[in-house]
Amino acid sequence: MLSKLIIAPKKYYITTPIYYISDKMHLGHSYTTIAADIFARYYRMIGTDVFYLTGTDEHGLKIQQAAESKGITPKQLVDDLAQQTKDLWKLLDISYDAFIRTTDQKHEQLIQEIVQQMFDKGDIYLGDYEGWYCKGCESYFTEKEIKNGKCPIGHEVFKEKEKAYFFRLSKYQEWLLQYIEEHPDFLQPQSRKNEMLAFIKNGLEDLCISREAVSWGIKLPFDEKYTVYVWVDALFNYLSGLDYINTKEKYLKYWPPDLQLMGKEIFRFHTIYWPIFLKSVNLELPKIEFAHGWWTVEGQKMSKSFGNVIYPDEFIEKYNLDIYRYYLFREVSFGEDGSFSIKTVKERINNELVATLGNLFSRVLALAQKRGKTFSFFKDQLSERVNEKIIEIHKAYEQINLSKVLNEIFEICYLANKYVQENKPWELIENNPEKFDQIIYVLLETLRIIAVELSPIMTRKYKVMFEQLDLDPDDKNNYLLEFSNIMENKNVKKKDHIFKKVE
Ligand code: MSP
Repeated sequence: MLSKLIIAPKKYYITTPIYYISDKMHLGHSYTTIAADIFARYYRMIGTDVFYLTGTDEHGLKIQQAAESKGITPKQLVDDLAQQTKDLWKLLDISYDAFIRTTDQKHEQLIQEIVQQMFDKGDIYLGDYEGWYCKGCESYFTEKEIKNGKCPIGHEVFKEKEKAYFFRLSKYQEWLLQYIEEHPDFLQPQSRKNEMLAFIKNGLEDLCISREAVSWGIKLPFDEKYTVYVWVDALFNYLSGLDYINTKEKYLKYWPPDLQLMGKEIFRFHTIYWPIFLKSVNLELPKIEFAHGWWTVEGQKMSKSFGNVIYPDEFIEKYNLDIYRYYLFREVSFGEDGSFSIKTVKERINNELVATLGNLFSRVLALAQKRGKTFSFFKDQLSERVNEKIIEIHKAYEQINLSKVLNEIFEICYLANKYVQENKPWELIENNPEKFDQIIYVLLETLRIIAVELSPIMTRKYKVMFEQLDLDPDDKNNYLLEFSNIMENKNVKKKDHIFKKVE
């Protein structure tokens, strides 16, 4: 059953970055992955054909060296780490449709075809690469990475020159600026788009896309002495993840991506390299590239050396998954930087989840049960307001504003609480039972809509709400985003509090 209030797009292709797997995934990685999951779940719910892609970035020197030090092959190492990542996403209820690994055969084959195409077109040429070379690391470092003539781990470095392949980024500079200008929604949010524009206007240099010292990578098809630079390899996951190489079926259905989410530190790769590479091989560009901010912990950079890294599995064992998914998008406005703190986690649990949301449910359900009967359809002004909020929430999704989604859901809770205060149903139960029944119906249907709107975010607690509202979570009709007659004749039952206070 489709809502008449909102128009669902036909398809929605959403992606996260593919994460490096040399370390255990932490809060930061889970943030982007959960954000994409919320979008995917919302759009599926309103009837859109969604494809949600995530995965792992598995090539490069770091993996090569880590495997060597463990005495195993890089492939053995990445198989193990990729599985750990999948296990974590399962724990966090991530509903991805495909998981792409850059060591998948379909990916490696695609990359070789793509770079060959770029080469044949004349966008890749052989030139001289000059940089600081470290024998110990067998790799080049940039001017910035060098301190006092030493590499980041302290070996001496030498200026060296070698033959390497370059991609003609400079050729596309003007085209890219014009494209960004003509597609105002392409790069978001605006503040980060401005940074990118300034960077491009400063001038693009051709990009070295071959690596001689890295053997754990995809070979350049036209010169097998080299492997492909990891960013060329990584970005095209968004295409190989649709099985582009085997069958064009998913590509034809879902390309281009509707929303690509990432952290601000890799926005540059997605707003400069990625569109230019796509243009080079004549593929349509994504609709929106969105960069969110970075999380710190209690205001401090999250890092292993500070010992302050937040791991989602540890957090949810102590609290629970719904609180985690809720907190991340409630605490920080999506797009901005934010600080994680246990104090604010507890405040949000006690003041919002328990005092506002949980209380509203128990109050209304207790009242409803007092009559010992079911209720018939009724609508009034609150019903109208709830319908307006449904439209607002939909717009917030379109504007990539998850914090607004949650604000609007809470607005519905506040409206419902006010409605209870004003109508004083506990006084009506004796002297005007008919009016009482009407008010309770409006409230129950409002609770249903709150639960439905929360379902992409709180993937478990909403089911507890459904249970108390006598709604079957497996029945798609119950998810209608529109004030309706669904709550007619339901045997609602108040059970335990949905959220518990924390000390
Ligand atoms: N492999 C590349 C991405 C290639 S995409 C074609 C990469 N991987 S990564 O493992 O370093 O992951 C970076 C991403 O993790 C960020 O863009 C962001 O999505 C997430 N985050 C990692 N730390 C983060 C925070 N502290 N805060 C928020 N998100 C962060 O870069």
